[in-house]
Amino acid sequence: MRRHLGILASAAIFPGCTLASTPLGAKAFVMIATMSLIYDPRRPEVLADPYPVFHQLQAEDPVHRSEILGGWVLTRYDDVKAALSDSRLSSDRITPFVNHHAKDGRGDLHELGHLVGLWAVFTDPPTHTRLRGLMNRAFTSRAVERLRPRIEEIVATLLEAVRPHGRMDVIRDFAYPLPIAVIAEMIGVPREDCQAFKTWSDDLASFIGSALTTPDKYERAARAIIAMADYFRRMIPARRANPREDIMSALVAARDRDEALGADELVASCILLLFAGHETTTNLIGNGLLALLRHPAQARALRDDPGLTGPAVEEILRYDGPTGAMVRVAAEDVRLEGRTIRRGERVFTMINAANRDPRQFEEPDRLDLARANNHHIAFGYGIHFCLGAPLARLEGQIAIPALLRALAEPALDGGEPAWLDSLVFRGVKSLPVTFRVGSRPIAR
Ligand code: HEM
Repeated sequence: MRRHLGILASAAIFPGCTLASTPLGAKAFVMIATMSLIYDPRRPEVLADPYPVFHQLQAEDPVHRSEILGGWVLTRYDDVKAALSDSRLSSDRITPFVNHHAKDGRGDLHELGHLVGLWAVFTDPPTHTRLRGLMNRAFTSRAVERLRPRIEEIVATLLEAVRPHGRMDVIRDFAYPLPIAVIAEMIGVPREDCQAFKTWSDDLASFIGSALTTPDKYERAARAIIAMADYFRRMIPARRANPREDIMSALVAARDRDEALGADELVASCILLLFAGHETTTNLIGNGLLALLRHPAQARALRDDPGLTGPAVEEILRYDGPTGAMVRVAAEDVRLEGRTIRRGERVFTMINAANRDPRQFEEPDRLDLARANNHHIAFGYGIHFCLGAPLARLEGQIAIPALLRALAEPALDGGEPAWLDSLVFRGVKSLPVTFRVGSRPIAR
């Protein structure tokens, strides 16, 4: 029996792909059936806390064949790292989607596949090397550092708006608006267009990484990406005529200099940066605050010791980071731990599982903001290592301590938060908190 499921593996996984389904007993999310573990990421208890299941897989079935996901699930740190740097495992999960829909003759879906297919994250060398090289030239550490005062200003404005009320939804009021404002500004999208971009981005997310089986998700995603592409195509001549200190201008200049970037590649790269630059950062802030609410002594330590900020954000990324899984497709047969992954089969590299592997991390389930030797792989590994890591780190390092300083005696408002139905994006749908309305001003 096959049916559409509630979890859509992402672009980071496999856009447009329906997960395979097996008729499972309703109760069990991990069970020993005919001597094999079954990992069912759809179960609410697994979504809320996947780590017990990950530990079981690591111990008993580290290269796990999942009928539910229709692929292989890797959970050990060494295996995940090896897979992410294995050139036999392709990042191109778009071509199969494009091929599948080519026969429909649907122009909008073709455009969707075409533009997303030009994202560096879904390409292999040599295309990836070229696209990444150009984005590297535009997305410099100078460009990121230049944003510091602006990020501080946006953080302070958002917190000042909620401070008199004594309650807020950390996702809606803070973690969601902050990263979109920052990345839009960095790319050069005017502030007044941010809301349109957020809406387009959310529609694209239903194709790329959302769990929701919205029946019209392809149509909405196609409409959104076509609108975004039109928007950037209209902006580019103005940036060419009057370059500014933004990424769009830098990409236009890079293209004009050596014509190494096709016109559609330029547009697709702007869309990728805009898309990749916010959902994950929202979840870094949300997951981080949730972990700190559950560990109040560590939250106080972070609030009072600015020296802890850098390692604390790294530990939050390791402990419960925003990335669930990244997907690869075997370009040839690959042998791993005695199993054979056949050409064309998918491999789910479980990033958060790897970051809790006891073979790599001492007491992996303990949040330790001062943890040393924290070589987590929340930003991936190998040639696709997150281009935006310096920006995400900077935003996390400014936003999380600022939240702790602004909210006196914060507490979860209501029960346990609901988690996104996604294998890719690890984050909560909302995070209502109460806090004491104090007189403490927000430090910038
Ligand atoms: C905490 C926040 C973030 C996390 C956890 C994260 C995670 C990741 C991961 C795991 C990958 C590897 C994908 C793969 O191997 O298939 C990746 C790639 C990428 N990320 Fe991030 N990301 C974050 C924030 C950002 C931001 C702020 C940007 C800003 C523009 C960004 C842009 C990108 C791009 C362009 C790639 C593709 C790189 C390539 O394929 O060479 N990310 N990210």
